Amino acid sequence: MQPVEIKKDIFWVGAVDYDNRDFHGYSLSPEGTTYNAYLIKDEKNVLFDSVSKAFTGVMLCRLAKAIPLEKVDYIVCNHLELDHAGALSELVARCKPEKIFCSQMGVQSMQGYFDCKDWPVQAVKNGEILRIGSRAIQFFETRMLHWPDSMVSYIPEDKLLISNDAFGQNISSTVRYADEVSEESLLGVVEEYYYNIVLPYSPQVTSALKALGGLDIEMIAPDHGLIFRDKKSVGFILDAYARLAEQKPRKRALIVYDSMWHSTEKMAYAAASGLEEAGVPSRIMSLKHNHHSHVMAELSRCGAVLAGSPTHNNGIMPAMAAMLTYMKGLRPKNRVGGAFGSYGWSGEGPKLLHEWLESMGMEMPAPFVKTQWAPGHEGLGRCHALGKAVGEALTAKVNMF
Ligand code: FEO
Repeated sequence: MQPVEIKKDIFWVGAVDYDNRDFHGYSLSPEGTTYNAYLIKDEKNVLFDSVSKAFTGVMLCRLAKAIPLEKVDYIVCNHLELDHAGALSELVARCKPEKIFCSQMGVQSMQGYFDCKDWPVQAVKNGEILRIGSRAIQFFETRMLHWPDSMVSYIPEDKLLISNDAFGQNISSTVRYADEVSEESLLGVVEEYYYNIVLPYSPQVTSALKALGGLDIEMIAPDHGLIFRDKKSVGFILDAYARLAEQKPRKRALIVYDSMWHSTEKMAYAAASGLEEAGVPSRIMSLKHNHHSHVMAELSRCGAVLAGSPTHNNGIMPAMAAMLTYMKGLRPKNRVGGAFGSYGWSGEGPKLLHEWLESMGMEMPAPFVKTQWAPGHEGLGRCHALGKAVGEALTAKVNMF
C-alpha cells in the first residue's frame, strides 16, 4: 500500500475496490472500481477527497506513508457523495486539518451526512483561488456534474485538473494511468460510466468543457479509475466527453426485449433482419441475460432503440418496465425508436412501449407491431418492416446531423 507520485510532490493515495459490482446502488461496475484521492505536499499540505468508508484503513495506510497524518493542513472535498467522503470523519479526527474546503452546496451535503458543526469548514466560490505555497488551487463549480455540490480543482503550476467524478471510469487495477491500457478497452469503460452516471447531465458537461477549455491541462486526475497524464490521453478523454455529451446519432441499433415463451424474442430477430436490410447493424439484448447498465453502455453506440415486450397483466414485463424507467431517467437524446411484442388476449404491451419511447423524445417512424400468440410469417414480416423503417429513419437522421 504505497502512495504513487503522479507529479513532483503530488501523490495518489486512494484505494482499489476489486469486488464492487454495485456502483452507487443502481449501476453495475463489472470490473470493480477505484476511489482516487490525492495529496499535494507544499507549504500547506492538501488532501483532495477520500474513499468509501470500508477502505478508510487502506487510504490512511497509504497516506501515512506519504506524510504524517497530522501534517495534512487542508482537506478539499470536491464532492460529498460517500464514495469520496466515506473516510472523512476518520480523516478529520486523525489529521485535525486547519481547513476543510468545499462548495457552498457541499456545506449542505456535509451537514446532512456528518456531525460537522465543530469542523473548520469553509465554502469556496466558483473561480476562487487558494494559495498553498509554491502552488495555487483554483476551484470551479461543476453543479449537477453530477450532484449540486460537485466541483473540480485546478493546479495551474502543475497543469493538473483533479476532476472528481467527471472523466471517471469503473476499473480496478494496479495500473494507474490511462496510457497503460488499450484505447479500445478504455473507451468501453468510459462509455459505460458516462451512460450510467453522467448522461442526464450532458448539457452541464458541454458547459464545463467550455469553462475549462481555457485552462492549460496536462494531466486529468479523476476520482474513479485511470489518470490521464499526457496531452494525448487528456485530448482523448476531452474528445470522448464532447462526443458523448453531443449524443450525435450513430448508425447502429439496440434491440432490447423480454419474452415469456420466445414469441417476442422471434420478433426481435425479425426486426434485426429488417435493420440489416436497411444497412444498419444491431445488437439484440435480452433482459434475461443483460443488466440494465450493460444495455445503457450499448446505447452509447446506438442511434436507435427497438423495445419488445409481451403483454403481461395488461402492461409490460417487469424487467422491461425497470429498463425503461432507468433509460428515461438517464435522458438519452436524438434517438429513433420502435416497439413490438406478442400477446395472448388483451395486447396493451407494444402500445405502452411505443408511448414510453415517444415520451423520451424518440422519433417513431412506424406504428408498433403486435402479434397474437406465436408470431407467424405475416407477423414476423411486419417486424421486419418495422426494423427496416427504423433503420431507414436512423440513416436519414445520421446523414442530416
Ligand atoms: Fe463517485 Fe458522485 O460519486
